[in-house]
Amino acid sequence: MSRLPEHIAVIMDGNGRWAKKQGKMRVFGHQNGVGAVRAVSEACAELGVKYLTLYAFSTENWNRSQMEVDALMKLLSRTIAEETSTLHKNNIRLNVIGDVQRLPKYNYDALMKAIEETKNNDRMTLTLCLSYSGRWEIAQAARMIAEKVKRGELQPEHIDERCFLNFLQTNDMPDPELLIRTSGEERISNFLLWQLAYSEFYFTDKLWPDFGKDDLYDAIINYQSRERRFGKTTEQLNDK
Ligand code: IPE
Ligand code: IPE
Ligand code: MG
Repeated sequence: MSRLPEHIAVIMDGNGRWAKKQGKMRVFGHQNGVGAVRAVSEACAELGVKYLTLYAFSTENWNRSQMEVDALMKLLSRTIAEETSTLHKNNIRLNVIGDVQRLPKYNYDALMKAIEETKNNDRMTLTLCLSYSGRWEIAQAARMIAEKVKRGELQPEHIDERCFLNFLQTNDMPDPELLIRTSGEERISNFLLWQLAYSEFYFTDKLWPDFGKDDLYDAIINYQSRERRFGKTTEQLNDK
């Protein structure tokens, strides 16, 4: 418990393959992925993890079939409707990052309402990444900075890493110590490009709908065995 990550980020992958394995439509996999979201959120809150960030829909996922995109959007709205009161009861704050203006209005409105309802909860922040991509976020930050410079509110020489991160959508959270990706793929797929600079990566072959509390504990225990050097040497770390 003494080396618990404060922030865990998850690329929830493998729903489609999970469904295909049982001869079902991809949507069936997404529906069953909601159970894993519930299990992992609960486990994180119970342990005392302060931030859980879930990659639910990427900018690139808009390129999937209209049928799948529609089904995912409907599933999102059903999940918000069904789960918000539980989040609230458990003192969890809901947060969203991504280009949410691109979401259908019924989802956008429901999300804003759920965010408002849970905004004072402080046990854990659950961030859903929707219509999100890391490059989009960084380009967006660059645009905001350029506008500030143009208005004379910011000097170019004051733009450094610390200044830059204020313009990212994650400006109110620490970087994730641990990134988990399910389904055996070992890539970032345009997830938190800036924030994952020094995160520990954990990959598992489990498909997302099969991922449960025990799998989360395995990932955390594995993380706890890592030596995080941040560019230094083992000797330097031990000297301290
Ligand atoms: C992850 O599962 C969920 C989303 C990207 C929305 P996938 O739908 O990518 O499942 P696979 O990778 O095709 O199995
Ligand atoms: C990444 O999964 C996005 C989400 C989990 C939401 P994808 O399944 O879209 O990623 P790629 O296409 O395999 O890299
Ligand atoms: Mg996938």
